[in-house]
Amino acid sequence: MSKNKTAAPAVIPAHIAIIMDGNGRWAKKRLLPRTAGHKAGFDNFVSTVNECARIGVSYLTVYAFSTENWQRERDEVDELIRLMNNGITKYMPEMIENNLRLRILGDLSMFDTDSQDMLKNSVQTLSGNTGMLLSICISYGGRQEILQAVNRLLAEGRQNITEQDLASCLYSAGIPDPDLIIRTSGELRTSNFLLWQSAYSEYYFTDVLWPDFKKDELHKAIESFATRSRRFGK
Ligand code: IPE
Ligand code: IPE
Ligand code: MG
Repeated sequence: MSKNKTAAPAVIPAHIAIIMDGNGRWAKKRLLPRTAGHKAGFDNFVSTVNECARIGVSYLTVYAFSTENWQRERDEVDELIRLMNNGITKYMPEMIENNLRLRILGDLSMFDTDSQDMLKNSVQTLSGNTGMLLSICISYGGRQEILQAVNRLLAEGRQNITEQDLASCLYSAGIPDPDLIIRTSGELRTSNFLLWQSAYSEYYFTDVLWPDFKKDELHKAIESFATRSRRFGK
């Protein structure tokens, strides 16, 4: 494979969103515990963020933990939270060096106060940066996001709201809708990801499991996106 394989392709989506799925199956194939898959998944998340920043993606949104994932075994959930806490803390110097901005989308009240403080501090530390905006969806569900937006508007006594009013109360307020949504691991569903924002997103599904979704796979997805004809109903 030539080195040019990882050169930036001509059409880079402004906003890429990724459903990072398949960590468990990646581990199973290797007769490893699921947590080993999550560790490999986290490492691949870091490489993917760095590559997206390098090629000039403006917004990267990743689905790391859904509202429904709270129903998994307590041990797995605890391990995922531990990985997130340690991982983000360890990755912080690289995020600073890469000029990244950070947002966390989801219901943070579900986490212990130490985790909440770590997440808030990380967002704050990077708030003066000007580069790619990385949004991590944790304890995130599309329906839950829309519901909390509607409840906020109701609490304000609002009536006859517009699309803009609703969008401005989503966790993703101010972030343009995703151009390209990638899902790894062969599942052909959204699993409650960015339900409102994905109205006109292009989807890319691949059988590759998330820990194996390396740079060349990312570039394949972007090349596929570049061939799409987006008509937005016109
Ligand atoms: C994605 O991998 C990570 C999370 C949902 C937290 P999975 O853990 O869903 O892996 P599979 O789908 O079981 O292979
Ligand atoms: C979606 O994957 C959520 C994340 C990748 C964080 P799941 O593994 O939870 O989705 P389902 O259960 O296969 O629909
Ligand atoms: Mg899964």
